[in-house]
Amino acid sequence: MKPLVIAGNWKSNKTTAEALRWLQDFKSHIVSIPKYITVVLCVPFTLLYTLKEAIQSDGFPLVLGAQNLSPFADGAQTGEESARMVHDLADWVIIGHSERRKNFGETDGILRKKVEQAKSAGLKIIYCVPNDSTGIPNDVDVVAYEPVWAIGTGESDIPENANSVMTNIKAKSQVPTVIYGGSVTAANVASFVSQPAIDGVLPGGESLDPEKFAALLIHAYG
Ligand code: PGA
Repeated sequence: MKPLVIAGNWKSNKTTAEALRWLQDFKSHIVSIPKYITVVLCVPFTLLYTLKEAIQSDGFPLVLGAQNLSPFADGAQTGEESARMVHDLADWVIIGHSERRKNFGETDGILRKKVEQAKSAGLKIIYCVPNDSTGIPNDVDVVAYEPVWAIGTGESDIPENANSVMTNIKAKSQVPTVIYGGSVTAANVASFVSQPAIDGVLPGGESLDPEKFAALLIHAYG
């Protein structure tokens, strides 16, 4: 079995009570997670502390990720969470998601600074790109190929096409782990992770429902 990274992206969703209920429900739908799958739950900053405590207290093998961080170090940056603060609560961080590029004006220059900050704090980085021609900074741990037209639309890429784009990304970036995102579901996850260049998936909508996310993990096992 090849190692897989399956990263759920909750985006801007869920209160604390809803997140705790999700965790309870999720655990009722999945008995254990195989060692070769790293499950990263990428949640809003407001949920990291509560989920960290809950996961630690029951020893369930979920890893926490943030969805953003400041391009600056600690200091006078009102409203920002520095990499050091994020790493206090999370092990991973998503950088460069297309929603942040589009809705928050994040440029390659800003994203490079975020990668530098994340790396210096010891965070593992999932760096999102919409195609194989977008630049990828050094020091990224995982690249997520996410065609913009496939995000949240129910229209996923053709697995063979994703595989060929991701083969190019691997060759150009030298990053060994590349995952696919864009309308991944329990029904199509196996068709992606069975491709040779695809090392996991980044589901958004499907990760919000604990039963669907558990089913996605079970179907990824094959
Ligand atoms: P989606 O989102 O699974 O809802 O398409 C994926 C993402 O944006 O990371």
